[in-house]
Amino acid sequence: MQTGKQNSPDDGFAPFCEITQGKVDIEPFTLVIFGGTGDLSRRKLLPTLFHLCRDQNLPDEFSIIGLASSGRSDDDYRSIVKQAVEENSEESVPWACWERFSKNLYYISGSFDDAESYKKLFHLLEKQAKPTVRGTREVIFYLAVPPQFLPDIIEGLSQCGLCKGAFNTRLIVEKPFGRDRRSAVELNSLIGKAFDEDQIYRIDHYLGKETVQNILFFRFANSIFEPLWNRRYVDHVQITVAESIGIENRARFYDKAGVVRDIVQNHMLQLLSLVAMEPPIGFEADYIRDEKVKVYRTIRKMDDEYIDRFTVRGQYGAGIIGEKNIPAYHDEKDIPQTSNTPTYFAGKFHIDNWRWADVPFYLRTGKRLKNRVTEISIHFKQPPLKLFSTTCEIREPNFLILRVQPHEEISLHIGVKYPGIGNQLYPVTMNFNYERDLEGDVHFPQPYERLLIDCMKGDQTLFARQDGIEAMWAVVDPIIKRWEETPEPGFPNYTAGTWGPDKADELMRLDGRIWRLRQ
Ligand code: BG6
Repeated sequence: MQTGKQNSPDDGFAPFCEITQGKVDIEPFTLVIFGGTGDLSRRKLLPTLFHLCRDQNLPDEFSIIGLASSGRSDDDYRSIVKQAVEENSEESVPWACWERFSKNLYYISGSFDDAESYKKLFHLLEKQAKPTVRGTREVIFYLAVPPQFLPDIIEGLSQCGLCKGAFNTRLIVEKPFGRDRRSAVELNSLIGKAFDEDQIYRIDHYLGKETVQNILFFRFANSIFEPLWNRRYVDHVQITVAESIGIENRARFYDKAGVVRDIVQNHMLQLLSLVAMEPPIGFEADYIRDEKVKVYRTIRKMDDEYIDRFTVRGQYGAGIIGEKNIPAYHDEKDIPQTSNTPTYFAGKFHIDNWRWADVPFYLRTGKRLKNRVTEISIHFKQPPLKLFSTTCEIREPNFLILRVQPHEEISLHIGVKYPGIGNQLYPVTMNFNYERDLEGDVHFPQPYERLLIDCMKGDQTLFARQDGIEAMWAVVDPIIKRWEETPEPGFPNYTAGTWGPDKADELMRLDGRIWRLRQ
């Protein structure tokens, strides 16, 4: 057991609980990855599993089975996995544990629509899945495949009796979960025929980020902010998910999806709900998910007129990021010149409930923006009287920033007297930075580490529930529909390496506000 730093009263701190980071207790399991050699598996899943093994967070008995269409042996698969770990690990790879990891890797070649694949899988599971102390055999199916393959896989698993019965199974489904509310409902119903809701884990890797989880801790473990967390004190909220990367190698997927399906429907609405939700009655999966769903349901429905006035779409043109020349979106490989797919979104949301009535939530996200930054800023109202002059333009002297990435921190901006004979207000920051302020060997688990472990433990807190997914689609469906029906003639309308289209600034200006990050 490792012990974290503990302040003592001698340091001037009140004593607090010792932080203990015990070993995670995971029962023997088998993980079956559909699409076991695909992009997500290579970039994220396989390196993450290896790191979990290296950190001794996997049980003594486990196996990982990759299932994909190409004909390969177990040894071929082990080489592919080794290469994936090598290429996608940020730290140098401690190969000492490779032997232990690789001997637990298996491969099945088979297509998803062929009953034979599932028979082979059944036999391999019969052989490899080791019992827990309770005598159950835990099997997780990870669907790391494009959504069009899901029906075949669910059907195949179901026909072969793999969903319930012989094994204790769970299913992890990657985003995007459907293309709109209707397809999400269909998918939920299809999966729901084969698996119970408590077996289904709809993953959104944003929820595995340490600072995203911290939003709930920050709000509900401290008594000083929650009384201010409402329409009486908050003027507005901004949520920014800015990316400097582009569409990478995912042109075909991205051009069909666009920014709203890719980021707004999932990551951004998750962040919004964590900021806006009511306190749950306990820290258990369904209590938290109940409150999140209520937020999605109270987001004001957008009609066409609202969408035209209060949302902004963009597509990047050529520009420079760092020292690199970036081509326009429509010049990217595999993107049609005439593409009308948006790579940028900004919009004003209202949550029509007791706490947030009349408090706008401004959301924006985009590819090829100036910097990579994800943050939430809560802007508090002005004091009732302006007593002091300021040394610079201060619109809202008090705002709180919950920075998710790239540097995890929380900062509170306040106004103080600038030293001297004048009476001038000056903005300063009180700041908590994870890396700086948590001394010792603090390990930041990568999102997939946390989420895989939670699934192995059977904890669904950080996974979306059926009603949540459908309610999130209901929020964005009208925007997607309106934008698809009315192509934007002015694309591209922002330069790569900037903060997005001018219209997004205009959206704020009309409300007498500005984006916090804009230069
Ligand atoms: C994914 C999107 O879900 O999230 C990508 O499909 C995006 O387009 C990525 O780049 C961003 O994740 P992160 O963790 O880098 O902020």
